[in-house]
Amino acid sequence: MLDTSPASTVGAAISLACMAPSVHNSQPWRWLVGDRTVHLYADLGRWLPAADPQGRDMVISCGAALHHLRVALGASGHRALVHRLPNPADGDHLAAVEVREGGEPDADLGLAAAIPARRSDRRPFGSWPVPGAFVDELAGAGASHGAQVRHVDPGLRTTVLRAIREADTIQADLPGYATELALWSGARTGADGVPSSNLPAGPAPEGAVARRFSPGELRVRPDDPDGAELLIIATSSDDPLSWLRAGEALSAVTLRAAVLGLASCPLSAPVEVAAPRALLRDAVLDGSAMPQIVLRIGWAPPGQLPRTPRRRLSEVVSMLGE
Ligand SMILES: Cc1cc2nc3c(=O)[nH]c(=O)nc-3n(C[C@H](O)[C@H](O)[C@H](O)COP(=O)(O)O)c2cc1C
Repeated sequence: MLDTSPASTVGAAISLACMAPSVHNSQPWRWLVGDRTVHLYADLGRWLPAADPQGRDMVISCGAALHHLRVALGASGHRALVHRLPNPADGDHLAAVEVREGGEPDADLGLAAAIPARRSDRRPFGSWPVPGAFVDELAGAGASHGAQVRHVDPGLRTTVLRAIREADTIQADLPGYATELALWSGARTGADGVPSSNLPAGPAPEGAVARRFSPGELRVRPDDPDGAELLIIATSSDDPLSWLRAGEALSAVTLRAAVLGLASCPLSAPVEVAAPRALLRDAVLDGSAMPQIVLRIGWAPPGQLPRTPRRRLSEVVSMLGE
């Protein structure tokens, strides 16, 4: 059996994997550890049916954790051989990761070091332009995981804002949506959900590129302009494998952004509702790809954000056969 004590290589790698971003910090993953393989399962008990009726955000979150795991194993001198959706009879079994000795040829220590530093930053970003070379590098990071990363042209930004507003209006009337959002955000303590310390104080200003969480404790000036650039992670198909890949790409892009000194924040609301998603697909992506998640990137304002807590390793890991 692989050793998963927090001090072991595999235990430490799973701890780092659990620092991946997840929708509403739901951490919808379970890890089952065998002799040489770490299995990743979606945890349906943490599915958010009102925001995420198809379970797409849940699988994207697990994809992000899968990529974090690979980066962490690579940095510790191990090679990870990944089998995605290995069991056609069990759709919750998202990946089987064979752990081998002997070093990943393209292990990236910088990316691993970025794992604990990355945050989803909901503050308005600075107005310094993000260099085109950085955007290209982020697009390359996503492409190497089978997803497209499209930069939203300034002329199409208002279309994305329209999709966000439309999603906001539709979701506000969805049965259960407000209750689910309140359950998963705004708490001051605990290891689940988006904590109040990471949510802006005061109501989100009209036209904000943000989900309408309840107000938190982050001090932001409501009239500060947001200099964020918008990216859309998209795939050519729209099935669980594409969602998993999109999550891996999301992880690769946000970690690379952190290495470049850029802040980031995923934004899934406009992709959670059919009509705004279709608008993004047709008007922003020319009908050529399925949007999976929107991402704000840019220069963070001064001041470190607190880390969003995670569940303990013992709550998410079990040994095969136990
Ligand atoms: C699939 C997915 C969807 C997300 N959607 C949003 C969103 O709509 N708005 C938002 O502010 N953050 C969103 N997030 C970010 C999560 O809230 C964040 O990852 C979680 O709270 C953990 O915090 P951290 O990323 O700072 O570690 C999303 C993350 C993922 C993976």
